[in-house]
Amino acid sequence: MSITTGDKVVLIGTGDVGSSYAYALVNQGICNELVLVDIDKEKSEGEVMDLNHGLVYALSPIKITSGTYAACKDAAIVVICAGAAQKPGETRLDLVSKNLNIFRTIIKSVMDSGFNGIFLVATNPVDILAYATWKFSGLPKERVIGSGTILDTARFRYLLSEEYNVAPTSVHAYIIGEHGDSELAVWSTANISGKLIAPDLTDARKEEIFVQVRDAAYQIIESKGATYYGIAMGLARITKAILQNEEVVLPVGSLLEGEYGHNDVYIGVPTVIHRAGRKDLVELSLNEDEQEKFAKSVKVLKDIQASFWT
Ligand code: 2OP
Repeated sequence: MSITTGDKVVLIGTGDVGSSYAYALVNQGICNELVLVDIDKEKSEGEVMDLNHGLVYALSPIKITSGTYAACKDAAIVVICAGAAQKPGETRLDLVSKNLNIFRTIIKSVMDSGFNGIFLVATNPVDILAYATWKFSGLPKERVIGSGTILDTARFRYLLSEEYNVAPTSVHAYIIGEHGDSELAVWSTANISGKLIAPDLTDARKEEIFVQVRDAAYQIIESKGATYYGIAMGLARITKAILQNEEVVLPVGSLLEGEYGHNDVYIGVPTVIHRAGRKDLVELSLNEDEQEKFAKSVKVLKDIQASFWT
């Protein structure tokens, strides 16, 4: 059966991240139908009311309702933001068993609806949960995408744009690996319109910038309890790339099958996104140090996977 067409999006989980994502979709006019599903129906209904009250000022018409998993039947994309969130002091990986159990139920309910679209997973630990979604759903790898390092890359590009006083869109640089503590900056290819950045910065400055990227979430969680606007914008960007068949390269969570010398792991790497989900991966030419760091990041994720899947 061919993939569901149209541009209906179903969002599962209307907490801080989910509701910010919904707001971003409405503001940017990315889809024309949005259904909000949450275990707390009152919460999703409240979000729907609130969003609908802004519609008169929206870019384009959009039908927003609250619903059940049945709404996934003809959805083009199901976006999952549901699950327990990181508390101060917790790492993303601390959430793994709690959220794996929640995902077992969610994915089964979505698939039971007759869903035949694309999953976009945002819940942490996102790489493990994207892998779980792929396993639990039985869908081809092209149709299960994690948010990967979309946010980390945005943080990196923002900081470099401040460093050089250029727009973040003119900074071409990636964070790859786990969306979490073992991620890495690909300094060897980072550039501003073709001009390499690495030779310009001291190792200490590079490390400072990278640490700011890597630890940004901890800092935000300490100060305001959660992070949501950045990831919501990243998810909206991926959604738009899918619905508009953009074939744009975005650093999302994709399954490796030999690329970068690794396999059987979902991890953040530059990926071509089109209407059928994920297309090809872009294999960056990593230097030796980056290859080593990437291998360590893969190992962190695979060690966790090994304790849940044999
Ligand atoms: C973030 O990086 C917590 O994963 C979330 O903002």
